Amino acid sequence: MRILFADSYEDMSLEAAKLVAAEAWHNPQSIFGFATGDTPIGMYQCLVEIHQHFGIDFSQATSFNLDEYVGLAPDNPQSYHAFMQNHFFQYMNFRRECIHVPNGLAENIPEECAQYDKTIREAGGIDLQILGIGRNAHIGFNEPADGFTRGTHEVILKSSTIQANARFFSSVEDVPRRAISMGIGAIMQAKRIVLLASGSEKAEAVYKAVHGLVSSQAPASVLQFHPAVTLIVDKAAGAKLQ
Ligand code: PGA
Repeated sequence: MRILFADSYEDMSLEAAKLVAAEAWHNPQSIFGFATGDTPIGMYQCLVEIHQHFGIDFSQATSFNLDEYVGLAPDNPQSYHAFMQNHFFQYMNFRRECIHVPNGLAENIPEECAQYDKTIREAGGIDLQILGIGRNAHIGFNEPADGFTRGTHEVILKSSTIQANARFFSSVEDVPRRAISMGIGAIMQAKRIVLLASGSEKAEAVYKAVHGLVSSQAPASVLQFHPAVTLIVDKAAGAKLQ
């Protein structure tokens, strides 16, 4: 695992944006895996600026988001569809039909999950996957569990994740209890992975991801088995690493 120590959240965001921009520059038809949450927002802002100032073209690129809440419509402001639209896609030149986010309103969730994996496969697989990390070392919505998940699947959220995400909703009761998430197996198939972490509350999870025993109880630890991971941490998140 390659580790970049950034001085600040802004520095982490810029370094991540440069990797995405470089991928798009190198291969305009790149397939990106994108993440939501507070952590990648700065990266998206940098990418919007890079796109606007340098004209890096995403019109032939494709994107797949990691996850979506079950039961939220795409135009629900708390949905990850809306998150991506508001922070990123509205400013970029991805073609609408090349933007993929799991459908949280699907009537048949297992079918939606299988179709999502099939669409990723048919697109040629993800070239560059962006990940955040949860305090419990989850990636996507792959929570600590007895085994590693494989493909895209339905998740029952842990109460710790519901609490952590309540800040985006008017109350904790409004946080959906279920989500669709790409599985660990699907994430591990990405050709390259960029894992971002910022803030002291992520330091322990980052330590487990890098030095911990590889275990489904700390899902990010599986990244130790991926051949091309770049971890970008700010000072606080990287405090337990050497
Ligand atoms: P955060 O979430 O970026 O909002 O901290 C990351 C995650 O839970 O994967």
